[in-house]
Amino acid sequence: MVHMEKILVVDDEAFIRDNLERILTGKGYKLYSAENGKGAGQMLQEEEIDLVLLDLNLGEESGLDVLRELKESDPELLVIIITGYGTVESAVEALKMGAYDYIKKPFKADAIHLIVRLALETQNLRREVRQLKRGGQSELTSSQIVGSSPQILDVYHQIKEVAKHETSTVLITGESGTGKELVAREVHNLSPRKNKPFIEINCGSLPYNLLESELFGHEKGAFTDAKSRKTGLFEEAEGGTLFLDEIGEMDMGLQVKLLRVLEDRKFRRVGSTKNIEIDVRVVAATNRELRKAIDDKHFREDLYYILNVFPIYIPPLRERKDDIPPLLNFFLNRFSTEFKKKIRDVSRDALNYLMQYEWPGNVRELKNVVERICIMQNAEVITREMLPVEISGNSNKNNNAFSFEIPIEGLDLEQFICDVEKEMISTALNNTDKNVAKTSRLLGVPRGTLRYKIEKYGLSG
Ligand SMILES: Nc1ncnc2c1ncn2[C@@H]1O[C@H](COP(=O)(O)OP(=O)(O)OP(=O)(O)O)[C@@H](O)[C@H]1O
Ligand SMILES: [Mg+2]
Repeated sequence: MVHMEKILVVDDEAFIRDNLERILTGKGYKLYSAENGKGAGQMLQEEEIDLVLLDLNLGEESGLDVLRELKESDPELLVIIITGYGTVESAVEALKMGAYDYIKKPFKADAIHLIVRLALETQNLRREVRQLKRGGQSELTSSQIVGSSPQILDVYHQIKEVAKHETSTVLITGESGTGKELVAREVHNLSPRKNKPFIEINCGSLPYNLLESELFGHEKGAFTDAKSRKTGLFEEAEGGTLFLDEIGEMDMGLQVKLLRVLEDRKFRRVGSTKNIEIDVRVVAATNRELRKAIDDKHFREDLYYILNVFPIYIPPLRERKDDIPPLLNFFLNRFSTEFKKKIRDVSRDALNYLMQYEWPGNVRELKNVVERICIMQNAEVITREMLPVEISGNSNKNNNAFSFEIPIEGLDLEQFICDVEKEMISTALNNTDKNVAKTSRLLGVPRGTLRYKIEKYGLSG
């Protein structure tokens, strides 16, 4: 017999209970209902319920209290909140308490079905992840992802699991520099699609029509500049993975098209009437709070649900400081080798500062700090003095030969600035064994500009 998933509706209004029952029974679920918290508790004792739809407004009773009780007796219970007008704040509160998601009244049959289906799919994947975890495997192996904190191990297990489900859409969220792109590549590399293309596109970098023809391609003559036919990234990624970076920046109009493609698994080139079927896994990433973008009407809720089938959240580095030492080690080895330096270690004092720092730029910032130190320094051990001021808190380093006091007779500002510039470039060149590329990176000056200035100040010899 096919397993029918069981849904419990908790609502004091018979009208809503009946309505949900009608909608969802029609979609093949088995429905149960309760009027209040007590009834819900009983029902959960008697039946193996897969998902609860809980109204926040239960007349006398507070839905939040009921949620708390349900979650206390079963923290894994999947709960979707139903909220009316004006109770969005309580809904957010409910999410914090562990509700999976919320849906606003009045809702459409399609919307409720979609959210229920996706919640259950997600739950099933989660369950498998947990089973996998129980099976052991605690080390990160053959991965580009460095780290040993429980949080990053958890991320890694989720990647491994979703990688196997090769058509599931994945939504990666996390602050800038936490490793979203790295995770997206890992999802691809660990999947059966690994020998097929991994194609990435930054959805924030192109205006609407360019992004559209980039994604879907176009026919010759589809618009004025379409001089020839162009295949889009969906076609190029066939059999593989399409990574939609910064999905939160995508234009609303294009979001509709993307939604349709993801639902129908087919699309048309711009200017064509022929449907092209696709077999592509979509992985999307964003550092935006998509929930908020939905509330602000910058992001479509239905697209969010489709993308969010398997969410992977990467916590900021400051919340997983156990990862700092292995990351330092990893980047030290890498850049020491690259820049032919002997730096292999970090002093205890310096490590303390590195551990205390909040890392607003996350792993990317840590990587840049290590790279700079490896370029600048020749010691074997990193000490506190070598750390940037924001990390060491040591701002009274007085290695500045220039005085910024203005002499009574005045000065030639342009000349002064040129002197500072010349001195800086000269120091940086010394620190990099006169390597222009590294110097340009160190000073944040484009290579061409740098060459011009080296010439101008006679620093090339
Ligand atoms: N756990 C990790 N192990 C090794 N390298 C990492 C890790 N996390 C991030 N990095 C490195 O840090 C840098 C930033 O990571 P990435 O580009 O994936 O961040 P992101 O989350 O996509 O940032 P943004 O939102 O700004 O695009 C990359 O060079 C990446 O290789
Ligand atoms: Mg990125």
